[in-house]
Amino acid sequence: MASESLRSLGVARLVSLAALATLAACSFGALAADSGRVIYQCELNGKKVTSDRLIPECVNKEQRQLNADGSLNRIIAPVPTADERTELDQKQRDADAKRAADAGFDLVVAQGREAGGHVRGDMGTMTLVPQVVDILGKLPVLAGGGIVDRRGVAAAIALGARGVWVGTRFLAATEANIHPQYRQLVLTSNGDNTLYSELFDIGWPNAPLRTLKNATTRNWEAAGRPATPRRPGEGEHVARRPDGSEIPRYFFGSPTRDITGDAEAMALYAGEGVGLVHAEQPAAAIVSELAAGLNIAPGIAGVRKSSTRSA
Ligand SMILES: Cc1cc2nc3c(=O)[nH]c(=O)nc-3n(C[C@H](O)[C@H](O)[C@H](O)COP(=O)(O)O)c2cc1C
Repeated sequence: MASESLRSLGVARLVSLAALATLAACSFGALAADSGRVIYQCELNGKKVTSDRLIPECVNKEQRQLNADGSLNRIIAPVPTADERTELDQKQRDADAKRAADAGFDLVVAQGREAGGHVRGDMGTMTLVPQVVDILGKLPVLAGGGIVDRRGVAAAIALGARGVWVGTRFLAATEANIHPQYRQLVLTSNGDNTLYSELFDIGWPNAPLRTLKNATTRNWEAAGRPATPRRPGEGEHVARRPDGSEIPRYFFGSPTRDITGDAEAMALYAGEGVGLVHAEQPAAAIVSELAAGLNIAPGIAGVRKSSTRSA
């Protein structure tokens, strides 16, 4: 933030690689959420297995999604194994970065694994950002994941980022529409109190999330991390929206102010930087403090100090 890139946030066309992945996952999630009207099929040990949900045992195999009348809706590609994923990730990262540059995007967000909310990549911010910067050349890169205060901003700039992309810190902004219980946990949690998982998958499956540990994650871990539908409390409703609709345990969304019920049991998006968030403040004060990080990055080319000095 506060570099030239950040000053133009309001008008620039912001494009995040993570957001692109998110969009793809979102359209798939909408389909799968309708699982009452579709069934899933795959082959396991030579036998055809059918379920009204994605079949966890077939996660590395092709699954077919069929409509209620038996016609093919779509084919769901297998999730690669860990080894395949490492190789694919590297190729994907290079390809994504090049595609972004070729497509004429104004800037790219490089999101490290310590980030809160939906997280796509495996690399930490410290190693990811300079690699993306090197691939993209002149295209501005914003660093995201674990940047919470002026020190994080200075570090991001030192890694070659032109600005930062911050989520978790703004959960403490007075303006943020989050449930009071969620905010209180953000203000009091340590950095090791987050979990990276695909646990909160109802409505948005196959999209890893970093959330605060809570009763739902603790019970699931205590039960040995079972797959759906054997997770503790599967099928229960934990909270309610103002329109009366119920929110199931394992729903992907986090609790807003107007939620009633057990907000603490819901998906509480937060990154590892949560351990550095201690006080509720207006968003403008948070931005000013982050901008001050530019003043402790001496000698970094392109950093404009004079107009960003804060009290
Ligand atoms: C509450 C919350 C909601 C988020 N929602 C989205 C989202 O809808 N789409 C997206 O691409 N990233 C989302 N993210 C991830 C952020 O865009 C960003 O990459 C991340 O917050 C940066 O890491 P940090 O949380 O350590 O600051 C969200 C993050 C948080 C904390």
